[in-house]
Amino acid sequence: MALKKIVYLPDPILRRKAKPITKFDTNLQKLIDDMIETMREAPGVGLAAPQIGLSQQLAVIEYAEEDENDDDETEKKPAKPKKLFVIINPEIIKASEETVVGVEGCLSLPGIVGEVERHESVQVKALNRHGKPVKIKADGWLARIFQHEIDHLNGLMYTEKATKLWKMQDDQEEDEEEIIE
Ligand code: NI
Repeated sequence: MALKKIVYLPDPILRRKAKPITKFDTNLQKLIDDMIETMREAPGVGLAAPQIGLSQQLAVIEYAEEDENDDDETEKKPAKPKKLFVIINPEIIKASEETVVGVEGCLSLPGIVGEVERHESVQVKALNRHGKPVKIKADGWLARIFQHEIDHLNGLMYTEKATKLWKMQDDQEEDEEEIIE
């Protein structure tokens, strides 16, 4: 496996609609593994192919859903295991009317975060790494990550949807887990 170089704004590839993937060969498997490694190394909770300079409909997402009863910080609970998703040619087929505003960042725009309104839950249709159709239901932060990554595949940066953008302070770095890449 090998780390890929992340591209940054204003690279025009980030504004281009990516092309569907039709070949599920060994080169694709290697590319997917490289993207997973690159996402983990960054670290980020998601990475779309245009972010490594490839205009292809492919994104990887890895995220541990938070515990719903996590308000009590004095009680340390083991973190939920992370779930890995590989989505190819994805499409949002259902989206909740309910929306939520949350803070997002992006590996292609380091040091900046912004508030973005997203659907609270979505249903995504995609192909997995072997070309098999899959349907994924996501809500909360995971739904936000899916929307952010699928936007990348449509040439959209979150900054175009953000109502507020600001520079991240150094002392906010530890909150990064709350922030999408
Ligand atoms: Ni991003």
